[in-house]
Amino acid sequence: MDASVSISGTTETARLDSGTTTVVFHWTDGIPVIVHLGAKLPEDVDLDTLVSALVRPTPQASLDETAPISLLPEFSRGFMGHPGLIAHRAEDAPSAWAGRFTFTRYDATDTGISFYCRDPYRGLDLCITCSLDPQTNVLTFQNELVNSSDRSLLVDWFAAPVVPVPSRLTEYLSFHGRWCAEFALERMTVPVGLTKKENRRGRTSHEGFPGIVLLGENTSEDSGPCLAAHLGWSGNHRMVLERLPSGEMQLQMGALHFAGELLLRPGDSLKTPDLYVTASSVGLSAMSQAFHEEIRRKILKFPEPQKPRPVTVNTWEALYFDHGWDKMTQLVDSAVDVGAERFVLDDGWFKNRDSDRAGLGDWFADEEKFPDGLDPLIDYVTKNGLEFGLWVEPEMVNPDSDLYRTHPDWVLGLADYPNPLSRNQLVLDLTNDDVTQYLYDCLEKLLTDHAIGYLKWDMNRDLVMPGNREGRAAAHKQTLALYALLDRIRAAFPHVEIESCASGGGRIDMEILKRTHRFWTSDSNDPVERARIQSGFSFFFPPEVMGAHIGPAWSHTSGRGFLPGFRGLVAGVGHLGLELDLGGTTERELPDMRHAVERYKADRHIWHGGNFYRLPSIDPALIGFASVSMDKHQARACVVQIDRPRSTVPALVRIPGLDPDVQYHVVMDDPDDLLGKANRGFNNQLASGHLVVSGAVLTQVGLQLPVLYAQTGLYLTINKSEIT
Ligand code: GLA
Repeated sequence: MDASVSISGTTETARLDSGTTTVVFHWTDGIPVIVHLGAKLPEDVDLDTLVSALVRPTPQASLDETAPISLLPEFSRGFMGHPGLIAHRAEDAPSAWAGRFTFTRYDATDTGISFYCRDPYRGLDLCITCSLDPQTNVLTFQNELVNSSDRSLLVDWFAAPVVPVPSRLTEYLSFHGRWCAEFALERMTVPVGLTKKENRRGRTSHEGFPGIVLLGENTSEDSGPCLAAHLGWSGNHRMVLERLPSGEMQLQMGALHFAGELLLRPGDSLKTPDLYVTASSVGLSAMSQAFHEEIRRKILKFPEPQKPRPVTVNTWEALYFDHGWDKMTQLVDSAVDVGAERFVLDDGWFKNRDSDRAGLGDWFADEEKFPDGLDPLIDYVTKNGLEFGLWVEPEMVNPDSDLYRTHPDWVLGLADYPNPLSRNQLVLDLTNDDVTQYLYDCLEKLLTDHAIGYLKWDMNRDLVMPGNREGRAAAHKQTLALYALLDRIRAAFPHVEIESCASGGGRIDMEILKRTHRFWTSDSNDPVERARIQSGFSFFFPPEVMGAHIGPAWSHTSGRGFLPGFRGLVAGVGHLGLELDLGGTTERELPDMRHAVERYKADRHIWHGGNFYRLPSIDPALIGFASVSMDKHQARACVVQIDRPRSTVPALVRIPGLDPDVQYHVVMDDPDDLLGKANRGFNNQLASGHLVVSGAVLTQVGLQLPVLYAQTGLYLTINKSEIT
């Protein structure tokens, strides 16, 4: 459906529509305002009437004319909250901290609209672009600022188009975390005043994922209003959520710049990262499905879109730095045995890399471990029918490396300041073309000389004092240079898939996903931690990009152990991998591993192509996921009891998204075979394998599950029944 623009007198309005959503813009002489972003409005709603019905009263003791939350709110118009643009001039220009834009024109396309505004005081041009995908229901926003004056401008803050949040969304989900605990969630009340979240780590970060969900007091997975936003940016970022004294709420997200970092010279322009926004009036799972669809249709570019996501064996927790020929080939043999399809050689293969103290930067096979280069191993892997993948960490260098000894000046940092190490490494300055050319040449040689179909691209430290050669803060340009390097690699080797890893999930966002095909979600393979992380991850990203591995019986990051069926169950919800010494100490677990792989292969098309749901649950110790095929003929559910259940008998579990009129056959798999112990009896048709029940019952009433021990789970296979 086209953007429909209507103009009457001096008031102009425009609307964009998708299947579930309408957004209405309104403007007079200044920067346009969003007057509605949410549930779809009937086509015949008169927008002028809508706008006049929403005119706010002028309260006591206020400016005669109060400024609205425009797409870039301005102090100069009397907006008293956090402004959308903060900029000034370094040279003597006392009034350049202020400015005021006037509306000049718009351009409407099939699915979007761009507004052009000009600030004559400072000689700035602003272009605000908004589009609404009619199929995915996701809005994409971007601002661009052009310095059309003859003097430089320093930009301190430039928000992506600012979203006014409906005041009934009184709560928000904040995403925080740390290493091995990504996507931690906290539900809070939006306070009056300003809430700011900032990330200065130089990568998307574990600690402050650039996303937020605003929701009503009673909003749940399958009911109530919510609005979610995500900034597609892999560097420093800031989010401002502000509830004004007037009761209005604004949400600003954008790239965070260090002081003086963004100098716009005459003629220069600056674009904000893309901001993705979606609204749902039927709960959180529908909101997540909108982001999943957006990613499936527009962000992800698999070299072979029809190819199922291959079962991966990764060497890290199996071998660490110990790349002996026998160990590696035994692992390949076991990988074949369990049914793996891709073998990824992780850290430890390159020159002098026997620990994390040396080698980063020297991207050549270690001659002791690989006397004849990488090809003998790659041949062994590929002749066994597996694809070969390789770990790299191109942005980094160890001081103990040939690269650093030759080019100590290639790192980010400030000459007069100590440059702190993290994991014994420093960060290369990608804004230096010599550096990116060196990295490109290394990667090009690896990918040209060898049959490598996959790169695990890691990034294992935060940036501290990221100054470039001129001493200017360069974190922003570093992020853009990384994108450019990845784009170059992707263009030259379009068949190579790339995994985005940053000490686990430190670089998970939509912009990096445009150039990559999988996230390493977390360094934690502990299934209890993972169930929580995967639940948080699923708010924005679909299962097919969620790298999820079955780790060893004893988890090296959390220090506790789990049964094999449980580990396989939780990992099977994402893009499955195995990361353990399959042929060694865990040999007795091989049948469980085979079972997990078989189930994943049989069902991955449902998890990776269906509608994903987090199961509504009243037990905080029960986490559940389901995926329903688009034709609603098949569904799979995974129920994870992370701790002892809170009641002696579990509450009914509803399976959302099914066709109410279809009869489904439900089969339960208890992968660790513990139900006989955890229940004195369970004489339910589910237990006998004969449960055939309607979608209406499964979705509205729910399913009685047996009692589950802590740290166990169930897998449900739900197929349209042939018996009617
Ligand atoms: C990071 C990654 C791990 C592994 C190690 C190797 O921690 O997240 O998966 O690749 O580096 O050093």
